[in-house]
Amino acid sequence: MKYVIALLLFLTTTLGYSFSDQMNEPLFDKGFEWCVATSAHQIEGNNFHSDWWAFEQEGHIKNNETSGLATNHIELWQEDIALMKELGVTTYRFSVEWAKIEPKKGEFNEEAMMFYVNLVNELEKNNIKPFVTLHHFTLPNWLRLDGGWANKESIERFELFADFVYKHIGDKVNYWITTNEPMLYLLGGYAFAEVPPMKNTWADIGAPLVNLVKAHAAVYKLLHHNRNQEESRTPIHVGIANHFRIFKAHRAINPLDQVAAFYAQRALNNSFLDAINDGELVLYFPTMINLRVHIPEAKGTQDFVGVNYYKRDEVKFIKKAPFLEIGNFSNKEASDLNWEIYSKGLKKVVEKTLKKYDVPIFITENGIADKSDSKRPDFIASHLKVLSNIKRGKSRILGYCHWSLLDNFEWREGFDPRFGLVEIDYETFERKPRDSFYYYKSIIRKNK
Ligand code: GAL
Repeated sequence: MKYVIALLLFLTTTLGYSFSDQMNEPLFDKGFEWCVATSAHQIEGNNFHSDWWAFEQEGHIKNNETSGLATNHIELWQEDIALMKELGVTTYRFSVEWAKIEPKKGEFNEEAMMFYVNLVNELEKNNIKPFVTLHHFTLPNWLRLDGGWANKESIERFELFADFVYKHIGDKVNYWITTNEPMLYLLGGYAFAEVPPMKNTWADIGAPLVNLVKAHAAVYKLLHHNRNQEESRTPIHVGIANHFRIFKAHRAINPLDQVAAFYAQRALNNSFLDAINDGELVLYFPTMINLRVHIPEAKGTQDFVGVNYYKRDEVKFIKKAPFLEIGNFSNKEASDLNWEIYSKGLKKVVEKTLKKYDVPIFITENGIADKSDSKRPDFIASHLKVLSNIKRGKSRILGYCHWSLLDNFEWREGFDPRFGLVEIDYETFERKPRDSFYYYKSIIRKNK
């Protein structure tokens, strides 16, 4: 009996210690960037000159919605910065809207740029670092009409835009994303007919993909070059935000589902990153045609990998184009958009990414559509826990951006999905922080 009591005492104290040790241990090291993310088209409003604006008027959005005034951030930006200040974030990831800066080919709008100059100055006053995305899904409509990324002139056009932005705010921005989720964006346009140009053949994806890799590489060099001209030469970090997803064969013993899941994961998670890491662009199609292009100038053009991670999907092979069907077919616990909540996936993608590419990572997006805010706190806690438990290279995880500060215009899904830590009343544009806002705030404050 004595031994049993001693054993029980030993177990409870040991377990007790390890539990409280764990509770007391900070989640991340000093210098970790706590962040929230948004994108211009989704929050600002009145993006008249963009390709998405034109696309929305054609009735492609759920319930025939259009982005309209979005969250009216263009007028309420100071209120939004005040919210970030209250939240306690150290970094804010936002995008600069190319269609507003260059509404007509070659005509740059200084006034539109002043919005971002003021934004960056106000962030600076509030001790929040700006993290700038240059291309987040939208293009100026004139460029869409000229062929978009399929036209190789887009490379030079993107450089001119990036240079204009740098000249105005560049000296204050140390983190840059050239392009957001390039693979998801192009697959959506060329393989899954979800966004312009609405194709589902895979056949024409080559030219825009190659041009976007080259455009990234050119802008990577341009930003570094501009920084090197400055006296301070503060280190600048340039990368892309890559959409990572875990794919699983729907029918575990079906080899076609297995192959489809493997190729989908590879295409989305690695094709673009491999190209800007080693200069070799490889895309396996779920058909006999494959794409292989040597782009030497892209080699080594990333200083970090931006990780956007949301979910796991099941994959079924189907016989006609686009050859795959993707979804939460087994009804796993999910968000309002039926996206499976799978925090372990974050560990898998981060560990693999750290191993594969010799650069640090930044979680540039992670969040959940959850109108009732009942799942968001757990979602945040479980993903941060997983992230902080990554032993290998913990110090190489630079920060975490929650998607999103505000509810916003969720592309094809319109305004229905609610991703915000802050709720938007779309009648009055009133901002109401949800409980999860205060929850994230307390995690940031305590680093626990
Ligand atoms: C990402 C995208 C964001 C946002 C988010 C939530 O793919 O970069 O703009 O829409 O998904 O769905």
